[in-house]
This record gives sequence, structure tokens and C-alpha cells, in this order.
Amino acid sequence: MATLNIIYYTGTGNTQDMAKYIGEGAESAGVSVKLINVEEADETAVDADFIAFGSPAGGAEEVAPEMIEFIEEIKNKISGKKVGLFGSYDWGQGGWMETWREEMITENLAVVNDGLTIHLSVDDDEKIEKCREYGKAIVG
Ligand SMILES: Cc1cc2nc3c(=O)[nH]c(=O)nc-3n(C[C@H](O)[C@H](O)[C@H](O)COP(=O)(O)O)c2cc1C
Repeated sequence: MATLNIIYYTGTGNTQDMAKYIGEGAESAGVSVKLINVEEADETAVDADFIAFGSPAGGAEEVAPEMIEFIEEIKNKISGKKVGLFGSYDWGQGGWMETWREEMITENLAVVNDGLTIHLSVDDDEKIEKCREYGKAIVG
């Protein structure tokens, strides 16, 4: 069975909820999913057929430093892969995701559908569906 590991940082749970629904979408496509908090991840966290990274917008349109540090550690292991990128934001325009995507492309990674951003919590059916669809796209 193909595997998807979803590695995420979350402060208040919104990006973690996205991870959960993205995982559901991938599972519905027959893929075995693992959710891993980046604060508990080691380099084996990227030993999977498919990989996704989640971080909310923090700082001033910045990816969580914990996530940046983790990707720095493992980037040589995943060079050439396609990855999912996702995260929650509040008042911004998604600038953190744009920067993150460009950084990943510089690292020779392809980003599935340019990433997925959700405003605050995953609190309605439309947002849930977007996450599930993104999960399917990552493993498609
Ligand atoms: C310290 C801090 C910095 C933030 N910076 C931004 C930002 O630059 N742009 C933005 O759109 N949202 C920003 N936010 C809002 C968070 O991205 C938003 O609350 C998000 O839902 C948090 O996701 P989480 O529950 O996964 O931590 C910030 C929140 C905090 C606490």
C-alpha cells in the first residue's frame, strides 16, 4: 500500500485540522496516512511515497521556524519529489505560502497544485472538502 506522511506545525490546531482532512482524502484514495507533528519528527518522517508539509502563517508572513529547520535537515532526502504544502492564515494575503513554494521549487521540489491555504479553522463543509481534495491530489 502506498504511504503519505503529513508533517505539520500548529500553534492553535487549525493547521493540524487541515492535516487531518487532507489525510482523510488520501485515505479515501487507498493510501496509508501518518500525521506527524514536526516537533516530534526525525528524518525518518519523510520515509514515505508521498509527503506533505503544513505550517500556518506566522511572524510576518513566515513559515514556522520549526518547519524551516526540519526541511533544512531532510531536504537532501527528498530532492526531486513532489510535495504537498498547506497551512492556515488569518489577516494576510497568503504571502507566506508564496515564499514557501518558491523556496521549495529552488530546492528542486514540485509543489502539488501550488499548495493549499485555509482562512483560520476548517469550520465548514467547503473547507473540509478543499482539504480532502488536496489530499487526493497529493497522492494522485
Ligand atoms: C505570532 C503570530 C503571527 C502570525 N502571523 C500571521 C501573518 O503574518 N499572516 C497571517 O495571515 N496570519 C498570521 N497569523 C495568524 C495565524 O496564521 C492563524 O491564526 C492560523 O489559523 C494559526 O494556525 P494554527 O492554529 O495551525 O497555529 C499569526 C498568528 C500568530 C500567533
